[in-house]
Amino acid sequence: MGITWQEGQRLFRLDTPNTTYLIGVVDKEGFLGHVYYGRRLEDTAGAEELLRILEAPFTPESNDRERASFMDSFPWEYSAHGVGDFRESSVRVRDRNGCSAVMLTYVSHEIRSGKPPLKGLPATFGGEEQTQTLEITCEDRVLGLRAILSYSVFRDTDAIARSVRFENIGGSELWLEKALSCCLDMDDPGLDAITLHGSWARERHMERKPVGHGKFSVSTLRGASSHQEHPFMALLTSGANQDQGEVYGFHLVYSGNFLIQAEVNQFDSVRVVAGINPEDFSWKLEPGEAFQTPEVILTYSAQGLGAMTRSLHDLYRNHLIRSPYLHKKRPILINNWEATYFDFDEKKLLAIAQESAALGIEMLVMDDGWFGGRCDDSRALGDWQVNEEKLKGGLGKLVEQVNALGMKFGIWFEPEMISEESELYRAHPDWALEVPGRTRTRSRNQYILDISRREVRDHIMERMFAVLHSANIEYVKWDMNRSLTDLGSVALPPDRMGELYHRYVLGVYEMQERLISEFPDLLLENCSGGGGRFDPGMLYYSPQIWCSDDTDAIERLTIQESTAMLYPLSAIGAHVSVCPNHTVGRNTPFETRGYVALAGTFGYELDVTKLSAEDRALVSGQISVYHRFHDLVREGDYFRLASYQENKSFDCFQICDREKEKSLVFYTQVLSRPNRRSRILRLKGLDERAVYRILTVDMNSGTLTEDTGRLVSGAVLMWGGMRLENFTGDFRSRLYYLEKAE
Ligand code: GLA
Repeated sequence: MGITWQEGQRLFRLDTPNTTYLIGVVDKEGFLGHVYYGRRLEDTAGAEELLRILEAPFTPESNDRERASFMDSFPWEYSAHGVGDFRESSVRVRDRNGCSAVMLTYVSHEIRSGKPPLKGLPATFGGEEQTQTLEITCEDRVLGLRAILSYSVFRDTDAIARSVRFENIGGSELWLEKALSCCLDMDDPGLDAITLHGSWARERHMERKPVGHGKFSVSTLRGASSHQEHPFMALLTSGANQDQGEVYGFHLVYSGNFLIQAEVNQFDSVRVVAGINPEDFSWKLEPGEAFQTPEVILTYSAQGLGAMTRSLHDLYRNHLIRSPYLHKKRPILINNWEATYFDFDEKKLLAIAQESAALGIEMLVMDDGWFGGRCDDSRALGDWQVNEEKLKGGLGKLVEQVNALGMKFGIWFEPEMISEESELYRAHPDWALEVPGRTRTRSRNQYILDISRREVRDHIMERMFAVLHSANIEYVKWDMNRSLTDLGSVALPPDRMGELYHRYVLGVYEMQERLISEFPDLLLENCSGGGGRFDPGMLYYSPQIWCSDDTDAIERLTIQESTAMLYPLSAIGAHVSVCPNHTVGRNTPFETRGYVALAGTFGYELDVTKLSAEDRALVSGQISVYHRFHDLVREGDYFRLASYQENKSFDCFQICDREKEKSLVFYTQVLSRPNRRSRILRLKGLDERAVYRILTVDMNSGTLTEDTGRLVSGAVLMWGGMRLENFTGDFRSRLYYLEKAE
């Protein structure tokens, strides 16, 4: 790792373990150009030529006649607006004359150890030994605008964190109308893009397509990172796969409206920009005020998607998630949502808790329906008082009884919302977002609280804290069940209304920060109608996020594969539920549901009192498997062996410990195939000089079954493959455990 200023070449050099990033300063003009991002360079001699600045007729120093041609082809480090570059700008500023041109040029720089936090925003972090930061100060003297472009590198991970801070250093007000977090220009070697798309209950399905001339983007205006698009894009050389080829990843540490766009221009260069969606965004900067963009993570791999995945997993585990649970076993929870929906009382919950405790389940989570008059989803959001008609004896008593069974207790909140049918709404109708003169848009019967307002946040936090202090509550599920509409706040003047979307997100972050500061030992799980706000921003506050409301094991193969392409398995909320599955009506073996949930945080979401004796026995088996392997799943390296999304037939992935001593292979056959041979799949991440014993995990007993004679060398497993024996039946899975033989 290291950042250096190479004075002779006028280059900034940023190194991560396997990558180099170069930025050039064009002296006379102070233009900042992107020189290189890719494989680590041992020597950068001659790299400045990549800027092409001496190519006639585009050299501004010697030929000002064709300045626009230069502007429109130079590889900018952070693109300007309205001065001759016709590709996507990174920033647009309206000044008091109503003009919008911006041109930022180099003024100075600073290289320092460590990484400063971003005020009010989630961001990666690392100590002075682990990270280094370059801050390049640029200015537009006409506007009186300063921009500090910030780049941090990590000693242990191939990632670069970028963000920009704007300061109004002039005497007049300015309005930022676009303030993206990064821009990356390079020649297009013929790239494909991978993006993740979906909907409620089918989040993050992967799509790959060639990037052609013009613009290709993913974005959202839903106010949350959304089920529909994910704040991520990978650009890959066209043949790249899990193990080979070049991959550039862009992942935003942000939970609101975003834009990530790739554009190929007339000279076949590609420009990627990423940041807050400029649509419906503006931010007023009075003289002396500043604006901080969210952070974007850039990652480059010369060894395919798998290496990108492992870089991101390491980055998020070591430099983003802060929870005390990060490296700890998560309690095996049972959530009552799919078991009871709104129809529960303390007796039903206790019956579930008793049966669960007997099976070894460690925490009861009481979901939606415990507060105010909440008997269905049409009322009571905002009334965060326990409904003592439903929970007779109150929350304290219920929690004591659950604790007495040896179980922890967790609770659900949806703090950002308000029902029209609620005491809160009757008292404060103006606390809901609203555009004057328009009927508000209901969604799931609810409105959105204006949490850009301090007093609204204070009230909700006060109510939540009162509940959480009233009993021994060790887990909170923080839900958010609708997209933002009606963007109007009575607290903002007209020329600041464009700040509302972002102020809302800042409000969410501030509330979550207050929650985890008040309750530092709390296990927080974020959720948004399933996985509608599953992003690195939320991971800064909660070590796990509910991945999808679709708990069907087969649907989850796809959702979890793409989620695990970016996030460690320890972040992926996954539960075993009943069949027929409540979302798709599919029947899958209990065993398979267990394996799929084991590849996440692992828990249950069913009425355990209604399970057959056979399934109950399987619960005990699954629990012992979880106890045995939770460390490996949480901390291990992840390798994708086969993709059900691609092959439409089976799913397979592997987890290895860092010492290459043990490994798990998860294999699911979706549909059975007649008259076929066994499958042979090449494993990854093993020690080729070692010999491994292959054991099958028996979910019924939770024990390991030794298959006779299955001692196989690491080299055979990795270069020849592991034989996965045939079995009949649909939706069937196997879990294999490999350990180094003595
Ligand atoms: C959302 C969540 C579910 C459940 C319900 C409760 O849909 O994703 O898990 O909590 O809300 O209303």
